[in-house]
Amino acid sequence: MKIIEILETDHVAIRLLHRCVSQKMDVESFKSFHDFIIDLHARIEDEILFPILEKAYSDSEDILYLIKRFYSDHLLLKKLGSKIIEYGETGQEALYNQRLERYMIILIDHNKSEERLLFPLWNKVDKSLQEEADKKAADLVSKFGYGKYTSIFRAVGKK
Ligand SMILES: [Fe+2]
Ligand SMILES: [Fe+2]
Repeated sequence: MKIIEILETDHVAIRLLHRCVSQKMDVESFKSFHDFIIDLHARIEDEILFPILEKAYSDSEDILYLIKRFYSDHLLLKKLGSKIIEYGETGQEALYNQRLERYMIILIDHNKSEERLLFPLWNKVDKSLQEEADKKAADLVSKFGYGKYTSIFRAVGKK
C-alpha cells in the first residue's frame, strides 16, 4: 500500500468508527485508539509525509504554514487524549464523554483538511521520494503491529 492510501484509509475508518462506536468507547478502547493515532497515524505524517512536503514546497510560505498547523494539531490531540484517559481512569464520566466528542471532532476536521489541502500536493513530489516514503510507512505499520493496527477498526459494528 502507498503512504497516501494508508492515510486515507485510516481517515475513512476513523469517520466510520466515530459514527458507529465513539459515543460508547470505553477508556481501554480509547487508549488503543489514541495510541494508534499518536504512535502510528500522526507519526507517519510527522516523520515521513510532512518533512518531504516541506522540502518539496520549501518556496511556498502558505504551504509551510499549513504544514505547521497540522503538526500542532497533532500535539493538541496528544495532550487532549492524555487528559481524556485521565478523566476516564478517575471516573470523571461527564468530562470524559465531553472531551472525547471534542477530540473526535477536532481529529475528523483535521483529517478532512489534510485530504483537501495536503494530500493533493503529494502528486508533484518526486517519484523516487514517493516510493521511499511508501516503504517507510509500510515499515511503521508493521512495527506497530498489523494485528494491533486492524484491531482498532475491527471494533466497528461490534457494539
Ligand atoms: Fe494528521
Ligand atoms: Fe491524517
